Amino acid sequence: MAAILRSVPRVFRGYQCASVPLSARMFQKGADEKCTLANKVAVVTGSTKGIGFAIARRLAQDGAHVVISSRKQQNVDCAVATLKEEGLSVTGTVCHVGKAEDRQHLVTTALEHFGGVDFLVCVAGVNPFVGSTLGTSEQIWDKILDVNVKSPALLLSQLLPHMEKRAGSSVVLVSSVVSYLPMPKLGVYNTSKTALLGLCKSLAVELAPKGIRVNCIAPGIIRTDFGLGEKEKAMMDMLPDMNKIYGLQRLGEPEDCAGIVSFLCSSDASYITGENITVAGFSPRV
Ligand SMILES: NC(=O)c1ccc[n+]([C@@H]2O[C@H](COP(=O)([O-])OP(=O)(O)OC[C@H]3O[C@@H](n4cnc5c(N)ncnc54)[C@H](OP(=O)(O)O)[C@@H]3O)[C@@H](O)[C@H]2O)c1
Repeated sequence: MAAILRSVPRVFRGYQCASVPLSARMFQKGADEKCTLANKVAVVTGSTKGIGFAIARRLAQDGAHVVISSRKQQNVDCAVATLKEEGLSVTGTVCHVGKAEDRQHLVTTALEHFGGVDFLVCVAGVNPFVGSTLGTSEQIWDKILDVNVKSPALLLSQLLPHMEKRAGSSVVLVSSVVSYLPMPKLGVYNTSKTALLGLCKSLAVELAPKGIRVNCIAPGIIRTDFGLGEKEKAMMDMLPDMNKIYGLQRLGEPEDCAGIVSFLCSSDASYITGENITVAGFSPRV
């Protein structure tokens, strides 16, 4: 049963998959036989909801064994149970990416359950403050930079000895379109996401000799608790104008960010590294 469910992933969007009848899933089998990430292992941070959850689900649908993680045990349990019910190969553990011991536990979990790691997808990110950049406390600066910028590099350094043993390893960072088009009142967050573009380039250069690729996606406004939460009203205020003038006239969905990550991990992207790809209904990049 698990194999049948795993073989028919791409017709699903979000939670709809559970409602697709088994006969329909079996009918789809031919279209999905090419499991691009079969037998690969992916570690995804911040993956119990929103963009991270959609990415974790898509990587698993495309054949990978996926390690789910976030700060709260109940969120991890819920995400793992949901994806296991869909026949996907996942495990999970608590990992606050800002805590060294949690990061180490994440590495250990991946090795114990799946015997290695091929892909790291760094989704976890925070924005605990809306207001003036120069009025931001040092504590808030440290928190945002620790979680959004330092933790992907520190986690990768812990995973590197294991990833370099595998052929075709790959890292995907999750920045934001605010790295190109800063949102008012989100100055520290904007800065952290711009830093990720530089981290992507630097890591790509550093790891190229080892054959490890590093890429980055920059989502626009995506329909998640984070994207549409109280604190992000500043983003929403700008949306009508931006979308009316430039965009695809809709908000992004978490699944809009998932296929591109699967592609960047896959061998189809084997000559792509150091790229920052905007997933925003329009790209403000020249
Ligand atoms: N939504 C947007 O419009 C948008 C646009 C551009 C970029 N992004 C970026 O996309 C990423 C995900 O955002 P989202 O909209 O999907 O958010 P979300 O729906 O709020 O989900 C955030 C996920 O990250 C986990 N998390 C939060 N802090 C964490 C930490 N310190 N360590 C580990 N896990 C943590 C949360 O679970 P727990 O609470 O259990 O930890 C949850 O699973 C962020 O980096 C964000 O900056 C979002």
